[in-house]
Amino acid sequence: MSEPSPVPSGREPMRPGRISALRDVPASIVRPHYVPKRPDQPWDFDDPPVKTAEIVEKMRVAGRIAALARDEVGRHVAPGVTTDELDRIGHEFLIEHGAYPSTLRYKDFPKSLCSSVNEIVCHGIPDDLPLQDGDVVKIDVTAFVDGVHGDTCATFFAGSPAEDVRLLSERTHEAMMRGIKAARPGRPVSVIGRVIEAYAKRFGYGVIRDFTGHGVGPSFHTRPTIWPYDEPRATTLIEPGMTFTIEPMLTLGGYAWDMWDDGWTIATRDGSWVAQWEHSLHITEHGAEILTAA
Ligand code: MF3
Ligand code: CO
Ligand code: CO
Repeated sequence: MSEPSPVPSGREPMRPGRISALRDVPASIVRPHYVPKRPDQPWDFDDPPVKTAEIVEKMRVAGRIAALARDEVGRHVAPGVTTDELDRIGHEFLIEHGAYPSTLRYKDFPKSLCSSVNEIVCHGIPDDLPLQDGDVVKIDVTAFVDGVHGDTCATFFAGSPAEDVRLLSERTHEAMMRGIKAARPGRPVSVIGRVIEAYAKRFGYGVIRDFTGHGVGPSFHTRPTIWPYDEPRATTLIEPGMTFTIEPMLTLGGYAWDMWDDGWTIATRDGSWVAQWEHSLHITEHGAEILTAA
């Protein structure tokens, strides 16, 4: 018997397509501080990791809009649809709900969500290439509303996925949920990565190491870093009032990656396909509250 291949047969590797013009955001929608970028301002601030109740309440609103946008985009994932069309749907949904699409012009990212197909790990730029039957599509949406961000990602399929790809997504979701359940006050943030990595290892999946969860709130990316594997440096203690994401990326092969010349798109070096799920969370005395549930 031969080993299952990490690269599904019959699908050519991903390649860059054409990126459409910058989409407009109505003047009535409040922009994050980095739009437009000012030379004297950083992309992100060093927010206090423990947020006020007022900020958390705003994050519930931003998180819910991000979750609804994620799922609305997901309903349109199908063979023949381009990721640019998915970006248009996400963009319009967010602005109709009074939100700014946080990725649009963040560090000069040109689109309103990240769409990462097959062996693309993350930060895929929506383009004009149509999805094909069996493709695995990670849709990562972030909404900025009332001064705070809500960040979430889900894995969808165009048509019918191969069984090993379907299982990869299901188990990546389960890995995220185990990380969320482990996120309790008094523990170091390393417990999150420990349970994610232990679960992924059961199935021989690769765990991407260089793209992590992060503090979120008034800043898009801030402290603490949430490594998706057992990282000894992850000694920060989890506290009530913290808000951060958990966003594991698991592969059917290895964890090595390369960046495309566009400066954004991350692809697995071995071409193995990838799933990712992400929630924004608020830590309470009893555990993690999911801010990006639909
Ligand atoms: N939403 C991604 C995350 O989960 C970040 C995307 S940043 C971008 O952290 F610039 F690529 F859009
Ligand atoms: Co994130
Ligand atoms: Co995200």
